[in-house]
Amino acid sequence: MHNKLFFKLLFTTLLVVSIQAQAKETAADNYKAYCVQCHGMEGNGKGVNIRDMSVQPRDHTDAKAMSGRSDDQLFKVIKEGGTSISKSILMPNWDGVLSDEEIRDMVVHLRTLCKCKFGS
Ligand code: HEC
Repeated sequence: MHNKLFFKLLFTTLLVVSIQAQAKETAADNYKAYCVQCHGMEGNGKGVNIRDMSVQPRDHTDAKAMSGRSDDQLFKVIKEGGTSISKSILMPNWDGVLSDEEIRDMVVHLRTLCKCKFGS
């Protein structure tokens, strides 16, 4: 009897862990597909486009700058574009390309790139 419960719990845990891993992978994939041309393969703001850009993309590995933004602000600027938080129009809006859920996962991904949280 106990054994069965153990395996049920184990199975549920594995399922949850694998779904979480999948979400992370999707955000990393989306970053590679949509963000690296400006923000760079390493997320350091050195994408192939930058030579011709009048405003340089944010270095997402810059913990100091990125910790100055709340998750809500990051969500907003990704969804609605640079102008939504009084930043450059060169940061496109991704509404319609990324779902709200994918944008939330992207914010989590950005936090792993900067190794930072809001306010620290
Ligand atoms: C066409 C180039 C371009 C692409 C593609 C792009 N960005 Fe940006 N992004 C910018 C620029 C330029 C800025 C800086 C705007 C400013 O400082 O006024 C910026 C700023 C940001 C910021 C705001 C940082 C801050 O607080 O100042 C975030 C977050 C961001 N980008 C995330 C993303 C994500 C996520 C993607 C992919 C889904 C993406 N960007 C794709 C150009 C781009």
